[in-house]
Parts: sequence; structure tokens; C-alpha cells
Amino acid sequence: MGLRRPGALIAASVLDCDLAALGDEIRRAEDAGVDRIHLDVMDGHFVPNLTFGWKTIEAVRRATALPFDAHLMIAEPGRWTDKFLDAGCDSITFHVEVAEPQIAPSLGRIREAGRLAGLSVKPGTPLASLDAYRDLLDIVLVMTVEPGFGGQSFMADVADAKLLAARAWLSASGAFEVQVDGGAKLATAAVIGRGGTDVVVVGSALYRADDMTAEVASIRAAVDAARRPTLGDA
Ligand code: DX5
Ligand code: ZN
Repeated sequence: MGLRRPGALIAASVLDCDLAALGDEIRRAEDAGVDRIHLDVMDGHFVPNLTFGWKTIEAVRRATALPFDAHLMIAEPGRWTDKFLDAGCDSITFHVEVAEPQIAPSLGRIREAGRLAGLSVKPGTPLASLDAYRDLLDIVLVMTVEPGFGGQSFMADVADAKLLAARAWLSASGAFEVQVDGGAKLATAAVIGRGGTDVVVVGSALYRADDMTAEVASIRAAVDAARRPTLGDA
């Protein structure tokens, strides 16, 4: 993972891309200027949807050198951590709402492997649920939609309530980054930027865009314009 840029990073979620051409769609996002690839793994238990697993990630690892951010919306992240590490994920983020005993060991396993460990909170889950894991985290992923599907509406109230708070929470721990995920697009970029977000996950807004390169650039510019005053590097 590169050092944090002064500007926000854009991570392309491939959930709603043309999955029949996943490798090409990943390369298309890279060519359009995204910084990361966000891989939404769903098991049909933790969320009411089923996507792809570690073997698919392993297969497309050779499609790009961009960092792979795995977002595991699965009930048993502890059971599968090693498979996603071996598949080449640079960071693995799972949900704090899963059964507790597996959380700390899984975060530790990810870090032992030299990758970034993250926890995600659903819209209704307070940031305080992360307190017990403060020293084990590199990433906090704030969901601004209910996890399970792309193309949903951005929850601005959740962003306002959590993004700046997550940044303060992480900064106190000296950890790495706050990510926002769900409904990000040009129209919601300012709210996201005001929250000081480090990584913006964008799915349908990129893969539905007529010009993905222009969309990446305009979202990044709008986030950064709002982010600079927040971070004092105006
Ligand atoms: C939803 C996923 C998100 C989603 C983002 O459960 O975690 O990554 O795919 O897609 P958009 O940007 O369309 O909301
Ligand atoms: Zn996601």
C-alpha cells in the first residue's frame, strides 16, 4: 500500500461491473485512474446477497498491480482470512457485527501477513463498537448504505454522523485511513470530502458512467475541494 496521498483515493467497487469480463473491467478502472480495486465478497448469510469468493480474486490478481481492498460481508471472516491473504488482497476489511470471538484474531492474522486490517460498521452500528479493536486497526470502513447491493442511495445523515468522528477516532490511534462505501458519486462528493475521508469507494457511478476517466477525475476533485478545509491543508 502506498503512503497516504494528500488527496483522497478512489477505490472502484466491481460489484456492478460486467462480471463476465471482470479482468477487463478491472483494467478499465485502472486506465480510468482509480487508485484501488474494492472487492465486495458476500456469503448470502451476513448480507442477503451472494457474489464471488477468494478464487475469483486469485484469478484476477494478475489483471492489475493496483492494491486489492477486500470487503468481506461474510459471517465467518476468521474461517477464510488466510484464503483471501493468499489470493493477494492488500487489505482485508470485515464487519464488526460478526460473532465477536473471531474479530481480534482475524485482524491480527491480517497484520501478521503484512497487510492492512480493517473493520466496517453498518449504518446503524455506532463507531464505539470499534473501541475494543482500536489498536488492531488500520482501516475503518463507514458504510453509507445497508451492505448487500450497489446502486443504493447515499445516507448523508450517516456520513455526517460518522465520517469526521471516525477520522478523529483513527487519528487518536495513529492508524491509517477512513474509507466510505455506498452511494458515492459526484453529487455526494462534497459531504464525503467534508468528512475528511481518505478512500472513497465508488461502484455504480463509475461503471454506469459514459466516460469513466472523467467521472473518476470529477469525483476526486470534488472530494478534495471539500476535504482540504477539513484537514487544514486548504
Ligand atoms: C455494498 C458494497 C459497496 C457497493 C458500492 O454492500 O459494499 O462496495 O458495491 O457500490 P455503489 O457505489 O454503487 O453504492
Ligand atoms: Zn464494499
